[in-house]
Amino acid sequence: MVADFESIRILDNYYQTSSFFPMPVVLISTVSESGQTNLGPYSLVFPFVIADQGKFSMMLATRSDSNTAMNIKRTGLCAINFVADDKKQLEGCVELGYPGETTEEKMKNSVFTLAPSMREEKDAGVQYSEIVEEAVQVFECSWDKSYNHKLCEEGDNFVLRVDSILLKKKYKDAIVRGMDAKSFPNLPIDYGFRDNMFFWFMKSSKPYSMKMAEGKGTTWNTVWYAAKRYDPSVEWTEDACAKLVRVPRIFLKRAIAGCVEAAKEEGIQLITAEFMDKIQDKRRKEKEE
Ligand SMILES: Cc1cc2nc3c(=O)[nH]c(=O)nc-3n(C[C@H](O)[C@H](O)[C@H](O)COP(=O)(O)O)c2cc1C
Repeated sequence: MVADFESIRILDNYYQTSSFFPMPVVLISTVSESGQTNLGPYSLVFPFVIADQGKFSMMLATRSDSNTAMNIKRTGLCAINFVADDKKQLEGCVELGYPGETTEEKMKNSVFTLAPSMREEKDAGVQYSEIVEEAVQVFECSWDKSYNHKLCEEGDNFVLRVDSILLKKKYKDAIVRGMDAKSFPNLPIDYGFRDNMFFWFMKSSKPYSMKMAEGKGTTWNTVWYAAKRYDPSVEWTEDACAKLVRVPRIFLKRAIAGCVEAAKEEGIQLITAEFMDKIQDKRRKEKEE
């Protein structure tokens, strides 16, 4: 039987014109030439480098002549503000999305409240992008020019190094404590498809969990993420993580905490498989005593 699909012509902006493509909705704040904060709504912004020795980045695709693109090129800085699924905020985003308006023109009617950057390390004399107080989370970023890639005549791809991630307290607490369905923020989805009249957003709905298949549940990766979340200052090798894959999920945090404590006692910053063996030996001996 032939599968029930029909081919559609791939047009420019195929993700909006010829398909449905779920995306985030963010406001990118940058500093304009006059020193005023500019907010531009964007959806083509995705994780790019996700793990590379402490380097993390996002990829942004934008028109080359947008205020955002020009400000990033001039200042090297921006903040990615994830707005909530709130009709007023989304209307506010669409308002800020008319191409061609200057910062002064568009920001006159902005419904968003701006707050100073919360970067811990600030260089004297640098004006850092303000952040949006209503946002659920904010990534404060700097442009990684070493990856620069000209998208096409009219567009730019920016690799934005994630310098810090800010979360509203209740969401940070939920991540640290362990998530449940009630603790997720309401983030909207930009549905991708767009016609001449409308942007389409999708309401966020109640999240649900899906159990990972038995035996595939915990991988070294799962352990690595849990360990980094527990204490980002301590590094783990893949082999060391692999030694904890059999620990049941509910005890994983406690097991990680024990290893981190032992590493700190010995002034070790990288937990290796050999170090894990050493701890296990020590514990075995302690139990035998
Ligand atoms: C929800 C939404 C998402 C958008 N996503 C993008 C995008 O990913 N890339 C882009 O170039 N323009 C995007 N736009 C259009 C820009 O917002 C528009 O070009 C705007 O003028 C940019 O503002 P700025 O010039 O202040 O940067 C989007 C608009 C809206 C409303």
